[in-house]
Amino acid sequence: MTKLWGGRFQKSAEQWVDEFGASIHFDQKLVLEDLEGSRAHVKMLGACKILSDEDTALILSGLDTLEDKALAGDLEYSTANEDIHLNLEKFLIDEIGPVGGKLHTGRSRNDQVATDMHLYLKNRVHEIIEAVGQFQGAIVEQAEQHVETIVPGYTHLQRAQPISFGHHLLTYFWMLQRDKDRLTESMKRIDMSPLGAGAMSGTTFPIDREMAAQHLGFSAVYPNSIDAVSDRDFIVEFLSNASMLMMHMSRFAEEIILWSSEEFRFIELDDTFATGSSIMPQKKNPDMAELIRGKTGRVYGNLFGLLTTLKGLPLAYNKDMQEDKEGMFDTVHTLMGSLPIFEGMVRTMTVRTDSMEKAVSSDFSNATELADYLASKGMPFREAHDVTGKLVFTCIQRGHYLLDLPLDEMKAASPLIDGDIYETLKPRTAVDRRKSYGGTGFGQVKIQLQQAKDLLGR
Ligand code: ARG
Repeated sequence: MTKLWGGRFQKSAEQWVDEFGASIHFDQKLVLEDLEGSRAHVKMLGACKILSDEDTALILSGLDTLEDKALAGDLEYSTANEDIHLNLEKFLIDEIGPVGGKLHTGRSRNDQVATDMHLYLKNRVHEIIEAVGQFQGAIVEQAEQHVETIVPGYTHLQRAQPISFGHHLLTYFWMLQRDKDRLTESMKRIDMSPLGAGAMSGTTFPIDREMAAQHLGFSAVYPNSIDAVSDRDFIVEFLSNASMLMMHMSRFAEEIILWSSEEFRFIELDDTFATGSSIMPQKKNPDMAELIRGKTGRVYGNLFGLLTTLKGLPLAYNKDMQEDKEGMFDTVHTLMGSLPIFEGMVRTMTVRTDSMEKAVSSDFSNATELADYLASKGMPFREAHDVTGKLVFTCIQRGHYLLDLPLDEMKAASPLIDGDIYETLKPRTAVDRRKSYGGTGFGQVKIQLQQAKDLLGR
């Protein structure tokens, strides 16, 4: 088959060479964006009198036919035509005749592919932001049920201080909120039109880049034609934002996995989001959470892959840049798979409040309360820390907890201690007394919950 760019060639490549260079097996995902870009380009060419009204109308109707066929799955792509751009141009010429060849006037595949990628990412990032919002909704719903559920808070994975479980869950709401913000802010750089940059230097045709950009709904045009076709920083930025989002999900997944273990027993995953073992009949495995944690690695890989691909490229377009696509598609696919799964998992999990309360009443996570109690009665905090530490040590030796200490022993450690210490040391009291802004006190968690709901528009 003769190539659309075949004029200066005397020999054609063998099929296996063509196959190596082709991107059609993955860039066909851009079919609708490519058609949209072509439509905008042709309308602009018509309006600028670069194409006659007749040719413009003919090409536009051909593009519409191709879109119908694409939606019906009736386009038979060929490797010989390399990529989505050449495949569609060839289909157009087959559809409406040689006039179809006018579509590429004043355009190059270099600005064309960059335009497609901007369009594609713009749509997908909106969908991802929406999916993050849904996931946050499930977190908020669970958090609302558990404002007053007390659980040990951890540092170094050692019990640290008692907290509200709702407060713990809302942590992920805020992380995801920043992820959403980052994606939203990145839109400014995605929402730009490279179209009209041509191969790299612009074009001699009197085109109107603004007009084409407006047809595509872009808010701005790249001011430099070389920059427009040379960079893929908007994709790197997306992959970076996606990596951060996956990192947050992976940490949450790790906690889901820990909490659903027999060692913690803090939650039970719904049967519909868990899996069994082919050999051990008793097993209920948190596979979905593990997979999300695992898939984080490939998203990071996609980010590093593209950064590495770009790092040594001279200006302007280089074929290396064709490698920008699979990692981006894969990342979009991974996010759009992981987010609803996580949402469902959180929405349907059962929180074992009994195990949580049991955990928090058989540990020393209330030790800070005793130190704070002494400090509030005038003892320097460092000294209070020491007195408390010694009492903790006594308890450990005897195999009980601070609340089991008789008052006279506590008084012997410090005469500042009175009978009200028993109330102070109760985990529930410890939590609710943390009324500082953003703290775990029930009132504060309720304020936070309201802020979260306001942000979700609920
Ligand atoms: N398939 C190519 C890509 O994805 C399209 C641009 C090709 N441009 C070129 N001059 N060969 O990057």
